[in-house]
Amino acid sequence: METELTSNLTVYFRGQFVPLQEARVGLLTHALHYGTGVFEGIRGYWSEEEAELFLFRPREHFERWKQNGHLLKMDIPHTPAELCELVCELIVRNQFRCDLYIRPLMFKSREGIGVHLGPETEFALIALPFGKYIDSSRGLRVCVSSWRRVPDNSIPARGKICGAYVNSALAGEEARSHGFDEAIVLTEDGHVAEGSAANIFLVRNGQLITPPVTDDILEGITRATVMELAREMWVDTVERRVDRTELYVAEEIFFTGTAFEIAPVVEVDRRPVGTGAVGPLTRRLQQAYADVARGRSVRNAHWRLGVYREARTNVPR
Ligand SMILES: Cc1ncc(COP(=O)(O)O)c(C=O)c1O
Repeated sequence: METELTSNLTVYFRGQFVPLQEARVGLLTHALHYGTGVFEGIRGYWSEEEAELFLFRPREHFERWKQNGHLLKMDIPHTPAELCELVCELIVRNQFRCDLYIRPLMFKSREGIGVHLGPETEFALIALPFGKYIDSSRGLRVCVSSWRRVPDNSIPARGKICGAYVNSALAGEEARSHGFDEAIVLTEDGHVAEGSAANIFLVRNGQLITPPVTDDILEGITRATVMELAREMWVDTVERRVDRTELYVAEEIFFTGTAFEIAPVVEVDRRPVGTGAVGPLTRRLQQAYADVARGRSVRNAHWRLGVYREARTNVPR
């Protein structure tokens, strides 16, 4: 889903809250030419009953963002706790009362020619109204991509590095141009890695399986969430290498990700997954995820940050 930019959006850039139109970068900005940035995606869920906007695991996202900045020799002078407060202030200033997507972006800001990892770093925080990323209500029909995932020794997939998303765009675009909803991307040596912008889980013989973090995947926060939710249902997750043909014999398959949430896959390479309908474990996990993310369950409440009541910001409410 492409999000329409609203003209009166306030963003955080260069240490200030400014209108989106004023948050501009120069044409020679390093990251624009060489992809030298790292970004995050955080969801915010509006609860009408609670009159509250819940951010889902923002601290973990900001921890990962800073960790990934480190890969490219970038740092910003804020702790994850401070970044949580800044993003809450941003939301309050925009007076959002709807589901949101928050995009933190840190990038090499030097203007000039030359490929390097020089120290100049800038960052921005953007919050946008956002609904479903993809309609997966009836399950996704996907293909195995002819593109391979970027290996860790080329561009680390765990880094959520801007330039690496050319790989995701190639895979996603190829899948859609062939009439599929999404792609599954294999590692260079032919094992299942993940979707173009989501992690993947399979159910085989009742066991939940997901590729390991050493198989060129992003170490997904939704992935970790699902593993914990499954554990609470007495279902352990096995992290192990997954062969391509296991996709054809799995009982259930689903993607996980901030944008995708938990998205069932009902067909791979024109072969039905299991019965061809959304599987029972997938449904239970979807329900459990929605309950915690939308503030309906008390369990794992520490995963949520309530913007309007919990967060301490100096903005008048
Ligand atoms: C390549 C890739 N894999 C997996 C994910 C899922 O990660 P998370 O659950 O932290 O959003 C994403 C981002 O959403 C991604 O871009």
